[in-house]
Amino acid sequence: MTRPAGIDDPGVDWAGARVLVRADLNAPIDDGRVTDDARISASVPTLEHLLAAGAGVAVCSHLGRPKGQRKEEFSLAPCAARLGELMGRRVELLPDCVGEEVAARAAALAPGELVMLENLRFHPGEEANDPAFADLLATGYTHYVNDAFGAAHRAHASTEGVARRLPARAGMLLSREVEVLEGLLRNPRSPFVAVLGGSKVSDKLPLIKSLLERCDRVLVGGAMCFTFLAAQGEPVGASLHEGPEGQAMASELMELAVRLNCALQLPVDVLVADRFAADAALEVVPTDDIADGWMGVDIGPRTAASYREAIAAAGTVFWNGPMGAFEIEPFADGTRAVAEAMAASSAETVAGGGDSGAAVAQFGLVSEFTHVSTGGGAALEMLEGRTLPGVAALPQL
Ligand code: 3PG
Repeated sequence: MTRPAGIDDPGVDWAGARVLVRADLNAPIDDGRVTDDARISASVPTLEHLLAAGAGVAVCSHLGRPKGQRKEEFSLAPCAARLGELMGRRVELLPDCVGEEVAARAAALAPGELVMLENLRFHPGEEANDPAFADLLATGYTHYVNDAFGAAHRAHASTEGVARRLPARAGMLLSREVEVLEGLLRNPRSPFVAVLGGSKVSDKLPLIKSLLERCDRVLVGGAMCFTFLAAQGEPVGASLHEGPEGQAMASELMELAVRLNCALQLPVDVLVADRFAADAALEVVPTDDIADGWMGVDIGPRTAASYREAIAAAGTVFWNGPMGAFEIEPFADGTRAVAEAMAASSAETVAGGGDSGAAVAQFGLVSEFTHVSTGGGAALEMLEGRTLPGVAALPQL
């Protein structure tokens, strides 16, 4: 099996190198401040490593989706400030990511110097993977390092184009993400259990198919379970669920699970609310007894107990998607139960994609997991068995 060449692999002397590092600093920002710095702090080890080895570094990233236009609300300034706090040094934000001034600063980067470039997506050439833009982006550097696992499923100029223009390496975060997620695909310790939540079956069809092929057991929660239940003809009341098309997909998946001998487990009870609010009236009911007007907001305690048991017996657990609307405290028990079961288990435990990482962080359990992926779409595409363009563009060992 090949892997992308990393910054520690032989062949590069970083002393005096001028390195363009692509990170994924796409963090949530509220009122000019970063509200979750998981991705920014995950980028620090590679930066520290290169700086300590004597490289000068310009770190670049996208933030949000400004659609090729310069829009101040998408400036990376809050991320530069947060990175500076995390690294205990000032991180200067250059006014752009390409252009004469930036190229001159790149060409003059001194050993141990660190600057940040402004949002790559202020230029349409970034997402278009425009060769002329990739040329501009590479100007002035001796090397390129891709540590942006969260953006590795995008074939953009900064993730794909530049990798083909400069001697390129994978950063430590990207290497670790690829190693762990490849391990789940190629060599999981059995029994392999997946815990799947989130709202729509139709959004995750390729992922669910891939997991059914690889796992011994798939535990379903979140709003998507109501599409499965509706497909079985159960009343789902006012619960979020998909119509005939989504239900047909759910039926197809249930048939596939039988053919593949994978236990696809649905909740046996749910917490229902009369409104989507913290002060709603609540009740626990069996899944075949959801009354009109009531909505499922979490898995019930019997379901949580049986999911806990399956997780405790697993050799590997992959988790994507919360079991309920965990951001509202009274609806968080089911999601907390699976997170705690994973934290307590001796299995290889990996959370990735969407809100599961945020849930693990909210419950203070990150350090108890084998790995919490910084990737949303990128982690899911890997688990679908797809090749990520940002990874494929790097030299492989
Ligand atoms: C993410 O948030 O998943 C990555 O940063 C990629 O962002 P994108 O979906 O806007 O490309």
